[in-house]
Amino acid sequence: MKELEKRIQADGRVLGKNILKVDSFLNHQIDPQLMQDMGKEFARFFADEGVTKILTIEASGIAPAVMAGLALDVPVVFGRKSKSQILTDDALTADVYSYTKQTTNQIRVDKRFLTADDRVLLIDDFLANGQALLGLKAIADQANASIVGSGIVIEKAFQQGRQNALDAGLTNVHSLARIAAFEDGQVLFVNEETE
Ligand code: G4P
Ligand code: NA
Ligand code: NA
Repeated sequence: MKELEKRIQADGRVLGKNILKVDSFLNHQIDPQLMQDMGKEFARFFADEGVTKILTIEASGIAPAVMAGLALDVPVVFGRKSKSQILTDDALTADVYSYTKQTTNQIRVDKRFLTADDRVLLIDDFLANGQALLGLKAIADQANASIVGSGIVIEKAFQQGRQNALDAGLTNVHSLARIAAFEDGQVLFVNEETE
């Protein structure tokens, strides 16, 4: 998505070897217009999938997920993170390990909000190692819901996330911006034409 790539070029900052800071429009301050445009783009791409629900994870997945939900006219559920390992009968849960933060969060979704009748679109802000996506898949699987695709705002294509997602059986993984590499503080995108 050109608009997003331009925004990343203009306002993104490369930290260290492989972190992209986008806190001026996605992860801290949020640009609602860009978010809405991204929601529309997800809705366009997944228009024929019969999506009944969007599943994301707090915090940064919520904004793009809500805009996709608005455009597709379906509810949005977000996995809540908690350190608590307390098991309850009324929650779907999964453990998500973060390589970036080196912490494990349990994410939970109330069983009332995801059922076997649902056709679920997973949404998240970043695809790095894919752990968040796999956690969301585990949650949807517990509900016996069908996963029809995954929408990612920014994919770091030089990491293992896409492969890990595909290996776990996820299909239809669509990223609005795919980063091939960081070079001298610059962001290089995967060239769609030469892919
Ligand atoms: P993974 O889910 O793909 O395995 O990613 P990883 O564990 O490496 O990332 C952990 C957190 O860091 C996630 O946010 C993820 O979205 C974010 N992240 C990964 N790479 C980048 C990056 O290059 N830039 C930025 N800004 N974030 C990145 P989270 O812990 O779920 O936090 P939240 O912001 O959603 O609350
Ligand atoms: Na995230
Ligand atoms: Na994040």
